[in-house]
Amino acid sequence: MKLTIIGSGYVGLTTGACFAKVGHHVICVDSNPKKIETLLAGQIPIYEPGLEEIVKQTVASGRLKFTTSTEEGVDFADIVFIAVPTPPNPDGSVDLRFIEKVARDIAAVIKSYKVIVDKSTVPVKTGEKVAETIRRYAPAIEFDVVSNPEFLREGSAVADLLDPDRIVIGSNSPRAIALMQELYAPFVAPVLVTDINSAELIKHAANSFLALKISYINHLSAICDAAGADVEKVAEGMGMDKRIGRAFLNAGLGYGGSCFPKDLAAFTTISNQLGVPFNLLREVHNINTAQLERFIKTIRDSLWVLQEKKLAVWGLSFKPHTDDVRSSVAVELIRSLVAEGAQVTATDPKGMDSFRAFEPELAAKITMVEDPLAAVEGAEALVVATEWPEYGEVDLAEVKSRLVAPLVFDGRNLLDPATMKEMGFTYHCIGRNHIMKS
Ligand code: UDX
Repeated sequence: MKLTIIGSGYVGLTTGACFAKVGHHVICVDSNPKKIETLLAGQIPIYEPGLEEIVKQTVASGRLKFTTSTEEGVDFADIVFIAVPTPPNPDGSVDLRFIEKVARDIAAVIKSYKVIVDKSTVPVKTGEKVAETIRRYAPAIEFDVVSNPEFLREGSAVADLLDPDRIVIGSNSPRAIALMQELYAPFVAPVLVTDINSAELIKHAANSFLALKISYINHLSAICDAAGADVEKVAEGMGMDKRIGRAFLNAGLGYGGSCFPKDLAAFTTISNQLGVPFNLLREVHNINTAQLERFIKTIRDSLWVLQEKKLAVWGLSFKPHTDDVRSSVAVELIRSLVAEGAQVTATDPKGMDSFRAFEPELAAKITMVEDPLAAVEGAEALVVATEWPEYGEVDLAEVKSRLVAPLVFDGRNLLDPATMKEMGFTYHCIGRNHIMKS
């Protein structure tokens, strides 16, 4: 089939490349000529495992193309995806101006029937607005609007796309649903067909529920520390109940990234607007904030004054296997440590360049080094902020010898408390601190 993706960011590019990989013909459109130039030159503007190879293959086979022209894209395709950013407004609601602009741009060039698919994460009822907008500016042309939310995790987006848990198709038009089913025929996954509003809600409801699971286990981690229990065992025991499941019950510094904080705020705002406030979600957010504060308090309680203290921080990205530092708890942690006068030396396998680009002021206040061992050299303590697997492989004896004192704050339960104890570290972790005391 022929499809066009408007918006060649993280979601748009990955979606376009994967559709091309399974045999469709795809044009990725972006209004930013620099981005399109980069893509045409064979470079990928983001780090996502496996994506570069797929883009190269599908471009070489002629199935994936790039353009800045919405008209070229819309003329070409049977199905037009909207995958533009939906950033948050200061009050937590969603800024839909890019979606509205694309709807007008499509209306300006649409000449025959198309299925317009919203891939971006949007508040419920946005599909109705998109349809209204296109109808207003292109009243003579037939089209249908579909909501087809994405469930991609950064770092495993290609796998999530090619092997999804489910495909959600929200539409009120049998013609559009049939085309979407044909589009997704190469994928082996259950397809859920719903109305547009339900499909839009599924995305916000799923992400908010996952955030809720994380906050649940994080608050439990504080209870475990207070009571003398092991949060990993509690999570394991809870997770063995098939109705609960073990996934997303890893206690840590809390959730970050470009989706959970934003989607939770948006869903909270929407529920208010609909007159059904979702107060539970406020508490999910509060627990997330408290989790980082509690961790910083542990550091402060241990080192007393942070002013002039040299601290090593492992991790900048919001989670492993991505260079994304947006809404990263690791970055917020560093911001707090720096605000208290600590001298931070940070490292990250992929995130240092994006940290410099997104947080230039904060980046200027810290030192960054490639080598995690170099980061701990002469530091008063090591702080683990992101659970990159390679950090679990670092020689701990060497870490100990390079630190001023063997003090480690592990915000992601990356290291093994029993080993740390045996090696003579003073080790603080999340919800497993009784192991050090026993
Ligand atoms: C998420 C959703 O998983 C995805 O389906 C959606 O489309 C986009 O948002 P992503 O933000 O890439 O994906 O990351 P994810 O792996 O879900 O992690 C989100 C945050 O939760 C990270 O900061 C991670 O460190 C944290 N997390 C996750 C935990 O603290 N504990 C867990 O058990 C799981």
